[in-house]
Amino acid sequence: MAAKKTSIVAVYPGSFDPITNGHLDLIARGSRLVDHLIVAVLRNESKQPLFSVEERIAMLEEALGPYPNVEIGTFNGLTTAYAVERGANLILRGIRAISDYEYELQMALMNRRLQPGIETAFLLAGEAYSFISSKLVKDVAALGGNIAGLVPPLVEARLKKRFGATAR
Ligand code: PNS
Repeated sequence: MAAKKTSIVAVYPGSFDPITNGHLDLIARGSRLVDHLIVAVLRNESKQPLFSVEERIAMLEEALGPYPNVEIGTFNGLTTAYAVERGANLILRGIRAISDYEYELQMALMNRRLQPGIETAFLLAGEAYSFISSKLVKDVAALGGNIAGLVPPLVEARLKKRFGATAR
């Protein structure tokens, strides 16, 4: 019997302030598993982001050029509401270490309660990226540390410009 094929449309929600090579690795691997992947930037000014939504989208657009089935979106409010609005049937998230697990589990269970028809799938971060976070990268960049290889080159350039620092 032929397997029934349901097309998978996934939302990968996040702050992406800014996109790191860890996010990129997840997007590269996730995009091969699904038919369509929407990288969804949360418009939440209460998190006091370093980069505006427009700047974050510009960086994502440059970094995500090579992935034809990946789209960039933005949303306000609930991830599940955005997923329904976009006809998505999956929420994709990454897990770097056990410390991520508790928060991700809470979110996944809450999202399942809100929308039982939408599954959450987790991909394990690549080992080389398991210590990278947007926050750490920003902290290091702000102090003039070397962030080469942790973020795409265009993001590195923007961070250096923002902090006016020469990497040490
Ligand atoms: O990159 P981040 O900051 O870890 O992403 C967090 C994000 C955007 C996935 C999370 O804050 C979120 O889903 N926010 C939308 C609000 C929502 O849906 N809340 C209920 C789920 S707990």
